[in-house]
Amino acid sequence: MSGRRILITGGAGFVGQHLAQALSDDGSDEVTLLDNLSRGVRDEDLAALTRRPNVRLSVGDLRDAAVWDQLEGGYDEVYHLAAVIGVRNVVERPAEVIRTNALSTLHLLDWFVDGGGRKVLFSSTSEAYAWTQHFHDLPVPTPEDSPLSLTELSDPRSSYAGSKIFGELAITQFCRAAGKPFVIVRYHNVYGPRMGNEHVIPELFLRALSGQDPLTVYSVEHRRAFCYVSDAVAATVAAMREPAAEGLTVNVGNDREEITIGELAERLLRHAGIEATISAKEAASDPVKRRCPDLTRARNLLGYEPKVMLDDGLERTLAWYAERRGSERQSPDQSMYVA
Ligand SMILES: NC(=O)c1ccc[n+]([C@@H]2O[C@H](COP(=O)([O-])OP(=O)(O)OC[C@H]3O[C@@H](n4cnc5c(N)ncnc54)[C@H](O)[C@@H]3O)[C@@H](O)[C@H]2O)c1
Repeated sequence: MSGRRILITGGAGFVGQHLAQALSDDGSDEVTLLDNLSRGVRDEDLAALTRRPNVRLSVGDLRDAAVWDQLEGGYDEVYHLAAVIGVRNVVERPAEVIRTNALSTLHLLDWFVDGGGRKVLFSSTSEAYAWTQHFHDLPVPTPEDSPLSLTELSDPRSSYAGSKIFGELAITQFCRAAGKPFVIVRYHNVYGPRMGNEHVIPELFLRALSGQDPLTVYSVEHRRAFCYVSDAVAATVAAMREPAAEGLTVNVGNDREEITIGELAERLLRHAGIEATISAKEAASDPVKRRCPDLTRARNLLGYEPKVMLDDGLERTLAWYAERRGSERQSPDQSMYVA
């Protein structure tokens, strides 16, 4: 099928911009990015993307029902990526995280089931099962059918995971009730160029570049499996387009190269050609010691296989940050981000 009309909410953000790039590459589909630019920015990457004749940026706040009233319908594919994310937001503005993530999803669903689109994809996160893992020892690699839970609700860290569990629930029940096709992807530590500065990779790199020695590294013993953004994008498009994935949740990540955060920091310093010692600290906001997705479903249903290994992905990511150092959108002075 060609000549699709595609909507990406949060399309000016990290994953959204890479996804839009991939979807608009051959020029046959029309891609609309809907974003309020609260985190996505009009940088040169977004400008190059929106110069393509088949890509347009629509600026609007998804919490505002009027934005949805004015949005045309009939999209073939709707990728719902917009959300407020990041440890700083979660800890300092939990009510805003809940308001944005819940309202944007509810408004989207009302619009979607009323003729907005044919099929919708919801972007969830490994954080949806993080507290189950913390309290109940889930298997790692972790499959999609693990129970989802939260810590006590007075803890602001429940806001992001809670909003994403709510989003999964809302997408599932609204679409089932309306007989509309949907799919949920759960991203696991996606990284790459233009991911903002709050994620562990750019944050460590920018502090190392600025000469921090010893380099403070949080949760050095924690194990993660990092997924380069082009792999995440390939899995996202495959999940949207594979009929066998309809109505299901699919893990998206890279299970081929688990690594401790301490090893990641060493590898990153090596790639950057920087000599620094590492000063290990515990991150107060990170309850998960080991995280790795079970990709059986993605492999079996989507034919997905992560292709970009960490050395290659780090090389590409650090090159992007080194080139744009100083023109970034957030200060690197943040505690470690894990999404
Ligand atoms: N990056 C990861 O590793 C990761 C991991 C797990 C889940 N996810 C999920 O994937 C999605 C995309 O993540 P990302 O890393 O690209 O995040 P991002 O912050 O770069 O992109 C989100 C975009 O949503 C936009 N947005 C926020 N509030 C909005 C509003 N009220 N109206 C309109 N637009 C709004 C922001 O401006 C931003 O451009 C998110 O839903 C996130 O929860 C990402």
